[in-house]
Amino acid sequence: MWLGEFSIQNCRIIEAAQVTFSPKLNLIIGDNASGKSSLLEALSILSRGRSYRSCRIQEVIRHHSDQLLCTAKIHYSQQDKVIPIGIERSAKQTTIRINQETVKQQASLSQTLPMTVIQPESVLLITGGPSIRRAFIDWIAFYQDENFYIEWKKYKRILKQRNHCLRDRSQAYALPYWTEQLIKRQAPLHQYRLNALSALLKNFTTYQTGLWEGAKVNIRLSTGLPQEIAVDDTKALEKLFASRLEQDKKSHQTFYGIHRSDLKISVAGYAAAKVVSRGQLKILAILLLIAQSASISSEKGEKGIIAIDDLTAELDSHNQQRLLNLLLKTQQQLIMTTTPNGLESMQLDKVEKHLFEVKQGNFTAL
Ligand SMILES: Nc1ncnc2c1ncn2[C@@H]1O[C@H](COP(=O)(O)OP(=O)(O)OP(=O)(O)O)[C@@H](O)[C@H]1O
Ligand SMILES: [Mg+2]
Repeated sequence: MWLGEFSIQNCRIIEAAQVTFSPKLNLIIGDNASGKSSLLEALSILSRGRSYRSCRIQEVIRHHSDQLLCTAKIHYSQQDKVIPIGIERSAKQTTIRINQETVKQQASLSQTLPMTVIQPESVLLITGGPSIRRAFIDWIAFYQDENFYIEWKKYKRILKQRNHCLRDRSQAYALPYWTEQLIKRQAPLHQYRLNALSALLKNFTTYQTGLWEGAKVNIRLSTGLPQEIAVDDTKALEKLFASRLEQDKKSHQTFYGIHRSDLKISVAGYAAAKVVSRGQLKILAILLLIAQSASISSEKGEKGIIAIDDLTAELDSHNQQRLLNLLLKTQQQLIMTTTPNGLESMQLDKVEKHLFEVKQGNFTAL
């Protein structure tokens, strides 16, 4: 699938813009503060309902405006069909439309437009907290199996109820019930994530060749439980939750469970965040995101879209070139931003591409 006509209103510096992308490589060239990241944020809002840079929509909406609007046409290569989608966001309200119908769930938008955004902060996937990595693996699980999202929402509700009972003494009578429900759901949810990990590893192995020159990368999924306890061992889990009860009551939080699981990424046996160089961090994060995108694509039978903000930053020209070749190898639609200097450093003479220039939030096809 690929994104064709894309229009934006009131996203950061962009007052009103219309861009028609090609199914292959699209390069948006602009100086600092011209609006490159603003365009990618608009794409991220369309695919995920929120910006990758800020969780406060008021910061993203153009100053002195009340709402932002992003619309696009999604082209499906296999069925030869086009679907219009759109999202309007204000501080108070979100309205989503897919194929002329209003939909309530933001998840429907993500299902229609699977997009992976690669940006300078993507290294947080390795250096940041576990919630970023859980969201990363859950994103694949979400596309792999529609039941994952339903089960995951149920789990979150149960966890919330249990935490509520931990906090409120008058509700303590319901604790055994919510604990039992939580225990029951550990193994099935962990399995969805293991399936997602298996797809990720397969694609990571494919794409790392020729780009990753560090020592062997190892990725495993922890359960959020003590290592010696299996996710499906009900008896052991009952004992664990019982032994932790008083501490959970004090902290008002459920300490153990797959809501605390993590992707452990190591290089040569050491936590990657602690041992690899800044450039290697970036390459590793990009490889993970490309593998994620490929894992989503293969599940849907249609290829997803990769948006890249400032690929050239922090990479030497050799690595820039190799990364670009790898991105082209994915045969996905690529929407990439760069500064004029960045463009010069890439060798793109023989590559089929669409160029756009951005100045003060205005886009022109070159
Ligand atoms: N809510 C907003 N309303 C209007 N302008 C904004 C808003 N938020 C940020 N800006 C401005 O938008 C401009 C463009 O920012 P953007 O991050 O898109 O630039 P960029 O082209 O990605 O630059 P760089 O190359 O430095 O990353 C900046 O001058 C920024 O201050
Ligand atoms: Mg930027």
